[in-house]
Amino acid sequence: MLPEPPESSYRSALRPPRRSEAVGSVRQDTTTRGRPFTARDGRPLILRAIRPDDVDALRRAFSRMTPEQVRMRVFHALNELPEPIARYMCNVDPEKTAAFVVTDADGGEIRAEARVHFDPVSATAEFGIAVDPAFIGQGLGLALMLELVEASRARGMIGMWGDVLVENTPMLALTDRLAFVRSTTPGDPGVLRLTLDL
Ligand SMILES: CC(C)(COP(=O)(O)OP(=O)(O)OC[C@H]1O[C@@H](n2cnc3c(N)ncnc32)[C@H](O)[C@@H]1OP(=O)(O)O)[C@@H](O)C(=O)NCCC(=O)NCCS
Repeated sequence: MLPEPPESSYRSALRPPRRSEAVGSVRQDTTTRGRPFTARDGRPLILRAIRPDDVDALRRAFSRMTPEQVRMRVFHALNELPEPIARYMCNVDPEKTAAFVVTDADGGEIRAEARVHFDPVSATAEFGIAVDPAFIGQGLGLALMLELVEASRARGMIGMWGDVLVENTPMLALTDRLAFVRSTTPGDPGVLRLTLDL
């Protein structure tokens, strides 16, 4: 069994240049079997918590992302999601992380993934999210962000935040819709910090 990278390794792998994971009360059906979710065009999907056996599907999902999407998500180029990182992402410690996926109805492919990392000191949660390019504009991003908000509240967080590239219009529009507040990042004009009081 591969060793799990510590949180810091995960972060540095996904965002090395800068430092700057329930609807309802972490509903049981979402965290285990999942619940049906219908895309805006009618495609039947499932929204559920991420699972240890999602590693291969998560890596396939990453490989379908466009280079631009990858850059928006991790702030740099990355050709593939390394297996140890994918394994780490799929084996979440619920004390530290909540992570959700939207899959095809047969469970075969992951169409979107989103997570929050809980910081017990600041009582805030850092979010990250990505949607399959073939499912953009289908409401998956909004549904998953709402899931993250509920999971963060259930974990006792008082805020949620994330850093987003200034040119990331879709994410800025999505977070505007959720009433996140934008602020500049000191010394990094290319990045906006988005925060939401919970
Ligand atoms: C940002 C991202 C998650 C949005 O996901 P999505 O599933 O397409 O978003 P949704 O379909 O749920 O859209 C929800 C709302 O967001 C806003 N929105 C999303 N994309 C938009 C766009 N391109 N232009 C304008 N508004 C947009 C709209 O208000 C939309 O609601 P509406 O269609 O009813 O107006 C997706 O584009 C993505 O995966 N990007 C790459 C990764 C990334 O940037 N992650 C963020 C950094 S962690």
